[in-house]
Amino acid sequence: MELKFFGHASVYIKTDKVSIVTDPWFSKKGAFLGSWYQFPDNTEIDFSWTKDLDYVCLSHEHEDHYDIEFLKSLNKDVKIIIPNYGDDLLYDEISKILDNEIIQLNTREKIQLGDVTFCAVIQSIPGWDDAALIFETPQGVVANINDMKLTDVDLTFIKDNFRIKYLFKQFSGASWYPMVYPYSDEEKDTISKKSVINKFNTFINVCNDLEAEYNFPTAGPPCFLDDDLIYLNTVSYSRFPDQSDFYYYSTEKNFKNIDILLPGDSANIADIAIQTENNLKSLCFTDKKKYLNQYKLKRVKEIDDHKNKFTNPNYSLIEKCKNHFEPLIKSSRFFRKQIDSKILLNLIGNGINEKIVVDFTDANNCVYHYNEDEIIYTFNFEAKYAELIFDGKLQWEELFLSLKFSASRSPDVHNEFLMIFLKYADIKSFKNYQKFYNSKMRNDTFELTRNGEVYEVQKYCPHAFGDMSKGVIDGDYIYCPLHNWCFSLIDGKGKDNVLKLKISKKNDNEKKI
Ligand code: FES
Repeated sequence: MELKFFGHASVYIKTDKVSIVTDPWFSKKGAFLGSWYQFPDNTEIDFSWTKDLDYVCLSHEHEDHYDIEFLKSLNKDVKIIIPNYGDDLLYDEISKILDNEIIQLNTREKIQLGDVTFCAVIQSIPGWDDAALIFETPQGVVANINDMKLTDVDLTFIKDNFRIKYLFKQFSGASWYPMVYPYSDEEKDTISKKSVINKFNTFINVCNDLEAEYNFPTAGPPCFLDDDLIYLNTVSYSRFPDQSDFYYYSTEKNFKNIDILLPGDSANIADIAIQTENNLKSLCFTDKKKYLNQYKLKRVKEIDDHKNKFTNPNYSLIEKCKNHFEPLIKSSRFFRKQIDSKILLNLIGNGINEKIVVDFTDANNCVYHYNEDEIIYTFNFEAKYAELIFDGKLQWEELFLSLKFSASRSPDVHNEFLMIFLKYADIKSFKNYQKFYNSKMRNDTFELTRNGEVYEVQKYCPHAFGDMSKGVIDGDYIYCPLHNWCFSLIDGKGKDNVLKLKISKKNDNEKKI
C-alpha cells in the first residue's frame, strides 16, 4: 500500500485495488478571500496519481478541505464521497458543479471501496459539522480525524471498533480570536497560549486513547502570505502553531510518538523517524520567516489578483443590508430572543465610511444607520466584502476566517448565538438549529457532588453540546471537554461568554442557583 501525505488534511491511499484521496486542497489561489495558503506549499508535488484516482472522500465544506477547482480538474469517473449531515447543502452544491457520481454516507455506515472498507464517523452538531474518515486497508487502519473535535461517544466508538495504525489529526488553530480584537499583545498572548496548549494536549490525549502506531499532526496550520496578514504566522500570539512547535511541545511532555510529514511524504516507510528528523531541519521550520517570504514571492500574482478582484462600492449599502438581514431577523424569534441586542457594521472603503446597525431586538425595524446606539459587537471591514455577503456571494464565516476584519465587543464576552446566526444566515438552518438546541437543552441533567452538596447540572454544553458530565472541575468552575469553555458552578454563568449552564442544588430545585 502507498500511504502519502499531500499537505494540510489530504491523505492518499493506494492499494492493489483502489486509490483514494481525502480533503484535497491544492489551489494556488489559497482559500477564504485569498488569506489562507497551504503550509508548507503542496502545489509542487507529483500529481501523476490523479490519472488513476478512484475516490475523493471529503470531510466538510470549508474551502481548505473542499477545493472545487481541483475537483473540477478530475476525471469524471472519480467518485466523490461526502458525509450525510442531515441536509443536502453540500450534495446540492457539488452536484451543481460536477458531473461525477456523489455518494452520501451516513454516520458509522461502512462502504467497500475495492479492498478498503471506508467508514465516516459524522458529527452532526449544527455549526460544528465534521467527520472522521476511517479506512480499513489490508495493511492496517488509517484514520483521518482532521478538524473534528471528538466527543466521548465518538472516541469510544472509534476505539471499540478500530485498531488504528496511522492517525492523522488537526493540532493547530483555525480561529480569528483573539487576533482581530483590540487587546494588548500581552493579553493576546495569554489568550492564545491557553488555546494552543489546550489543542496540543487534546491531540496527545486522543493519541493516548486511540493508541495508534503512528501519529501525524496535520490539517493545518494554514499560512498567511498577504503583507497585511503575514505577521500572523510568527507573532507570539499566533493561533497557528506549526508541526515543529507541536513536535517539540509533545517531546517536552514526554509524548514521543509523533512523526512530521511534508507534502508528498510517505507515511508508511520503515525509516519514518529519520524522515521526521530531516523534515524538522527544513527551512519552513528552521527559518519560517525566510521560507514564507520566498513562498510569498511565488504567490504575488494570486495575492494581487485577490486584492484587485473586488472594488469597494461607491454607494450606500443600507438597502442591500436590509434585504439581507430583515427576512432573517423577522423569521426567527428564537435568535432575536437569544441575541437580544444590536451590532454595528462599520464599512470602510472608497472614501466612504458607512455605519449600519443591525438590531436583533426589533423584528420590524432592524437595519438602520448608527445613531449612538448601544452596541455589543462592532465589525470593521471593507465595504466590498459586505457587498459580497449581501449579494449572497460570500459567507460571514468565510470573511471571519479570512481575518480581513477587526472587531470589538462590549461587554467583552463571546455571543455564540450571534456567531451561529451569521454563520448560517439561512432561515431553514435557523429552524434546524433551534430544534436541535431545544432537544439538547430540554431535560438531560447529571448529578455532581461538590463540597458535600449534590447538584443537578445541565448535561449538554450550551456552546456546541459537549457532554458536561465528562467536564473537568477546577475550583468554582467546570470546563467543557469539547472546546474547554468554562462555566461557574456558583451561578452557571459562562466565563468570557454569554451562555449559561443550568445548575441547581438537588432537592432544592425551586431555588435555582
Ligand atoms: S461544546 Fe464547545 S465548549 Fe462545550
